[in-house]
Amino acid sequence: MESKSYLVQMNGVGGKAGVPARSLNGKQGVHHVSVNGSLYPAKAKSRRLRWDVKASDMANSTLNPIRAIVDGMKLTPNKDKAMIALSIGDPTVFGNLPTDEAVLQAMRDAVDSHKFNGYAPSVGYLRSRQAVANFYSCPEASLEAEDVILTSGCSQAIELVIGVLCNPGDNILVPCPGFSLYKTLAVSMGIKVKLYNLLPEKSWEVDLQHMESLIDERTSCLIVTNPSNPCGSVFSRDHVQKILKVASKHCVPILADEIYSDMVFPGCSCPSIASLSSDVPILSCGGLAKRWLVPGWRMGWILIHDRNDVLGSEIRQGLVKLSQRILGACTIVQGALENILNNTPQSFYSKTISFLKSNSEICFGELSTVPGLNPVMPSGAMYLMVGIDMDHFPGFKNDVDFTEQLVTEQSVFCLPASAFEYPNFFRIVVTVPEEMMVEACARIREFCQRHYRPRSCDSSDLEQ
Ligand SMILES: Cc1ncc(COP(=O)(O)O)c(C=O)c1O
Repeated sequence: MESKSYLVQMNGVGGKAGVPARSLNGKQGVHHVSVNGSLYPAKAKSRRLRWDVKASDMANSTLNPIRAIVDGMKLTPNKDKAMIALSIGDPTVFGNLPTDEAVLQAMRDAVDSHKFNGYAPSVGYLRSRQAVANFYSCPEASLEAEDVILTSGCSQAIELVIGVLCNPGDNILVPCPGFSLYKTLAVSMGIKVKLYNLLPEKSWEVDLQHMESLIDERTSCLIVTNPSNPCGSVFSRDHVQKILKVASKHCVPILADEIYSDMVFPGCSCPSIASLSSDVPILSCGGLAKRWLVPGWRMGWILIHDRNDVLGSEIRQGLVKLSQRILGACTIVQGALENILNNTPQSFYSKTISFLKSNSEICFGELSTVPGLNPVMPSGAMYLMVGIDMDHFPGFKNDVDFTEQLVTEQSVFCLPASAFEYPNFFRIVVTVPEEMMVEACARIREFCQRHYRPRSCDSSDLEQ
């Protein structure tokens, strides 16, 4: 049965002649009357007969490869050995790397001031943005408060940048191996991901020819992670300039993931990508998580570097609009930000770096003498990648199998690099206490010695 409803104007015209009509609640005005007597129109279409609530396409296409791989692994530690997790990129888990007292005091002061309990502007308090701008401004790449957007961690910064630059069907260039979030976000937004190779034999420099070959007319963003997760590599000034040259030639803006900026070992320099760019617009994503060792505080930022005004106001306004969807950075941390940035002593940063370097050297030194393993010495960040010569470990199908069995026998968990789309490697996090690192390396050695087999051609060589 068809149901119709009519809008009745209760201004005297719709009532009896000369008598203003009254609505159901006794007031004059506009209301809906249905011809079948009901106040609300009955649904014309057939109703659902059973529950059928499905997850959205966006939810279904959201995949975190780390979870997908780790959740699929059988992780049953050897009960005779305490578990050592070298897999978690959270420097706070073992309690050996506390943040600085000045950072904590800044937070206490922000809470006690009672000034930061309300909503902040969607892009963050002006004063906090100014503090970030001052902290990162340099003569080659100056920043004003308006060039800074505060976000909920570096993750949201990355999401906003991908969101403002890309439409469904566009593609982005992502390093391989690389941080998995780029793909997780892009795919769920209908954006294609093209992986460009990093070269382990060249300390994980970009294969520039490969990267350039992937660019097409729908490439809307090039992601560069420097220093790198998972490689711990740091590009030289010369190499960054070569990357910029490719981006400039093809007019592709760069999302620079610089969450590990300034976390580089002594003797190595890592100028920001923006400071070397003359024309390529750089949207640099960073935050407090790693350098200040407080990932749970969820403070991140986007630094907009656009010297030649290539992006114009549209991209800036687009970022502001996207920031208005969900307010990002926690206001207490925003309130503390100026003091965190200005009061953290240099000695805190240096201490963290020298610990990371020392642990990396221990790990690299130990594993480089283990037959069948090929660690690559990092220059920064908090990670070290180790190649597995799979030919020498015929008992294992791949890196996932290898690392799973390492847990079973030795209770040491390293993340298989398949999680970064880079099979036959595993990643070690070097933030664990030194004695744990030493113990873990000894156990990895024992494991490898047990499973190492000479290649068949090696053994025939021996037989001759
Ligand atoms: C390269 C890289 N970018 C971004 C992030 C995310 O940072 P945040 O915790 O501030 O969201 C991480 C975290 O591990 C990372 O390694």
